[in-house]
Amino acid sequence: MQKKDDFVVTPWEVAGDVDYDRLVEKFGTQHITPEQEKHIEKKAGAKHFLLSRKIFFSQRDLQAWIAQAEKGDKVALYTGRGPSGSTHLGHLVPWLFTKYLQDAFGCNLYFQMTDDEKFLFKDGLTRRQSHELAMENALDLIALGFDHKKTKIIIDTDAIKPLYPLALEVSKRVTLSTAKAVFGFTDQNNIGEIFFTSVQSAPAFLPSEELRNETGNAKANVPVLIPCAIDQDPHWRITRDVADKLGYPKPSAIHCKFMPSLKGAGKMSASDPDSSIYTTDSPEKAEKKVMRAFTGGRATIEEQRKLGGNPDICSVCQYLKFFFEPDDKKLAQRFEDYRNGNILDGENKAYLAEKVKDFLKEHQRKREQARKVVDKFLYAP
Ligand code: TYM
Repeated sequence: MQKKDDFVVTPWEVAGDVDYDRLVEKFGTQHITPEQEKHIEKKAGAKHFLLSRKIFFSQRDLQAWIAQAEKGDKVALYTGRGPSGSTHLGHLVPWLFTKYLQDAFGCNLYFQMTDDEKFLFKDGLTRRQSHELAMENALDLIALGFDHKKTKIIIDTDAIKPLYPLALEVSKRVTLSTAKAVFGFTDQNNIGEIFFTSVQSAPAFLPSEELRNETGNAKANVPVLIPCAIDQDPHWRITRDVADKLGYPKPSAIHCKFMPSLKGAGKMSASDPDSSIYTTDSPEKAEKKVMRAFTGGRATIEEQRKLGGNPDICSVCQYLKFFFEPDDKKLAQRFEDYRNGNILDGENKAYLAEKVKDFLKEHQRKREQARKVVDKFLYAP
């Protein structure tokens, strides 16, 4: 009998204990191979812990994109954000990796801010609010050190013009029954939600379209690679299905796992602000969240000293793994010490809290500076 999944992953819902191997099977993606990992590392001139720790773990047609880049042909990166609230640390995971890829391959990044999506999907969010959040979230991207000459932020409701013809082409080739099968839509979804996937497909074709307009060569292609968490993959299934029909290269994708909630298993939840750390949290507030986090510890100090803790379910350990302890040796040592009962939760939390506070102070400083340059990043067709 087929195993029943007790988790859900869609672009709008992540629930339960995600089985990533099962997801690769279900979505029809592939694991990143050691050769691909080496290839990227060689090009970058350095390892990235998000790759070596298998946090980026899955891909579609990654090799084709790398091969194109190696040939010296034009390639691009595409990623994005649905501005429904403040940016949390999990969102920064794919963006940091995108920065690493951009530095390695020297290509342009198209970053889509789907303020339209969040307006359509989130009850009570006005268009004005989602647009304001798009501008705020853009500061977080810029604070990571992207170069405006190579990075364009497309806020959908401001810059839909070049996307709209592409979205139309996509939407004409996606039936309602496909949208229902891929995203689980029902008769209760509004019709904007159903159309929206074609807007998220459009930037995958935009770099090719731009080059075609620039050169007059109707066959010019710029393949894109999309770094994101695996929840966004259903959009790429649709995009890849229609790409051939529209005469564009299929986008490649590279997927990461979810930085877990501070409250234990599962993706962070916007409805529980304590489940994640936002880039706009004060360092003190973030520290409190860390001190209240779910851990892999035991009921008493004595038990933990004797039996040790479980770093794999401990959100404090996982925050170190996903973000705050880039040094592999130090991470391995800490996990071992935690497993052996040499490190207790209080100490581990204090260790993480210091790192979180340092990060936030620096990020918030850069974020404020970004206000001065945000206009340079905005895509103006
Ligand atoms: P959004 O705003 O839900 O998420 C932004 C990016 O963060 C990833 N992500 C996470 N990664 C690691 N750990 C987590 N806990 C976590 N939560 C979210 C998401 O996969 C995404 O990469 N519809 C999209 C916006 C979008 C987009 C794109 C995203 C438009 N075009 C192209 C990726 C690529 C959205 O609402 O993302």
